[in-house]
Amino acid sequence: MARALDAWWHELGDPDQFVVVDAGAGCGTLARDVLAAEPSCSPALHYVLVERSDSLRAAHADNVALEPARVALGRGPTATSLQELPAGPLTGVVLANELLDNLGFRLLERGAQGWSEVRVGETDGRLVEVLVAASDDLGAEADGLVSDPPDGARVSLQHAARAWLRDALGVLGRGRVVVFDYADTTPAMARRPWRQWLRTFRAHGPGQLARVRAVTADRPQAEFLRAFGIDELAVGARAAWESRAHVGDLEALKHRSRVTEVEALTDPAGLGAFRVLEWVLPVR
Ligand SMILES: C[S@@+](CC[C@H](N)C(=O)[O-])C[C@H]1O[C@@H](n2cnc3c(N)ncnc32)[C@H](O)[C@@H]1O
Repeated sequence: MARALDAWWHELGDPDQFVVVDAGAGCGTLARDVLAAEPSCSPALHYVLVERSDSLRAAHADNVALEPARVALGRGPTATSLQELPAGPLTGVVLANELLDNLGFRLLERGAQGWSEVRVGETDGRLVEVLVAASDDLGAEADGLVSDPPDGARVSLQHAARAWLRDALGVLGRGRVVVFDYADTTPAMARRPWRQWLRTFRAHGPGQLARVRAVTADRPQAEFLRAFGIDELAVGARAAWESRAHVGDLEALKHRSRVTEVEALTDPAGLGAFRVLEWVLPVR
């Protein structure tokens, strides 16, 4: 990620202020690792961790040295922790790793009589699914997303994810929004048995996000990471591990775990199949 940030900073012409917003930052481990990698953009870098959970936000200070929210020239890297997205327009990047799969969505099911909305009810103290006739608006929206849905197909309506993308694009004057997540198109999801994707309440539609603004790039995570040289990092780590394996110290273990991390992050049957969606501003 640090390499990607450098590439995007150069693409913007090495601005003196480069704001990286980490939306849904969790406890701040990505921030810690990016700052530890000392990217070339560091003097310009203002890293903003945005996290809604109070307890996770409280952990930010354990992972990075925090400063009050302010941006000063050439003083980077600085890090700030916020509850909400900052106000724009900023020059930089809004990142979101597995944020969108935390946002709620409405769920519609296709039946012989048209679309029903799947809601949650209660029977004997247990939460159960209840199907109610979908409103005309929701039905029309689902029809606009999937033509000819098979009977029993389920479609998610990603209103919250779209609203988030609108807000994230609104933060930036110049730069890009980059989202890492499970993703598939709505028609493809409607044709898959819904238990495959709904069981975990994950899976988002890049098609629905593209309705907010056309996606500039959409590629698997493995391809994205390779474009920024993850294989080279793995080769270096493997060589360092092999030369220190006999010592077996912490440094050696760090290199070995980098090798395993790279394998996991690029596994085409696992994390490597995550999608990386990018929206570049201003639109070219
Ligand atoms: C699955 S975690 C991902 C954490 C981190 N990005 C990572 O990759 O480890 C999603 C995080 O987003 C936070 N979150 C959910 N909705 C949010 C919102 N609207 N604004 C900011 N954070 C949010 C959750 O509290 C949670 O920490």
